[in-house]
Amino acid sequence: MAKKLRALATRALPAAVGERLARDYEAHLSPEDRLLSPDEIATAAEGCFAIICTTADRFDRALIDRLPASVKLLATFSVGHEHIDLAAAKARGLQVSNTPDVLTDATADITLLCLLGAARRAWEAETLLREGRWVGWTTTQLCGTQVSGKRLGILGMGRIGRAVAARARGFGMTIHYANRRRLAAEQEQGATYHDRPEDMLPHCDFLSLNAPSTPDTHHFLNGERIALLPDGAIVVNTARGTLVEDNALIAALTSGKIAAAGLDVFEGEPQIDPRYAPLPNTFLLPHIGSATVETRNAMGFICLDNLDAVASGRPGPSILT
Ligand code: DGY
Repeated sequence: MAKKLRALATRALPAAVGERLARDYEAHLSPEDRLLSPDEIATAAEGCFAIICTTADRFDRALIDRLPASVKLLATFSVGHEHIDLAAAKARGLQVSNTPDVLTDATADITLLCLLGAARRAWEAETLLREGRWVGWTTTQLCGTQVSGKRLGILGMGRIGRAVAARARGFGMTIHYANRRRLAAEQEQGATYHDRPEDMLPHCDFLSLNAPSTPDTHHFLNGERIALLPDGAIVVNTARGTLVEDNALIAALTSGKIAAAGLDVFEGEPQIDPRYAPLPNTFLLPHIGSATVETRNAMGFICLDNLDAVASGRPGPSILT
């Protein structure tokens, strides 16, 4: 029987994914499920043909150049790939794959949860109840912002942005969007396109960030752009923390310029800016956009489909390099 190829997973995997990996490969799993240092990754990868990593593992040029020659594929358990230096990978002949499509619905769902959670003061309401401070229904208690009839501006109208738009339409919202290119009419579904994000911002009662983390989107939501939003706008970020300049957003949440924010991602996570937590007008989640059993299994299986393809010399289904 042919010897199984060896594959390293930097973090623990969902059970079904781990079982398939162990069935088809000599799996080198992370027993403690903790973040490995670059040294530990380079050492653990010895003899492996593939590494399954996550967005928390930074594969910069220095680490990529140190990887053992046996490593042919880096399969990230994410659609986002800003943590990997693709140019360095390409230069070294390392294939990189990601997990597109399968997390669109789960992430769009969490975007609506953040939007509604922020608009309807969900954290304040839940805390009142759980802390035993609720004294009964009153006409003025915890009134939030109605979403129906409002305008939602979406930055980044890729798969997730479009799925957010579809859900928001169901809540009676009107869609505006800014994107590198205008969508075809059947994808646009009547949404209003803005060539420049700055032209969209004054139309955003709600703003949802759904663009990838790139040098162009770094700190997109800064003080100047916040000033372009209508007073009392609500901001949602389920893309990447780097899209938001925390100082500017926290100042706007404190002054009331921004009425509320629903955030699932943070710059420097899991160390989030400590000024967010005490703000009552925030609805905060720990990067759970894709966290459903179904989606995480599907993401893991795409990683494994890429391993299978590369192991047998076929093109992988979602190779980036
Ligand atoms: C992704 O797939 O990019 C998610 O944000 C998980 O990191």
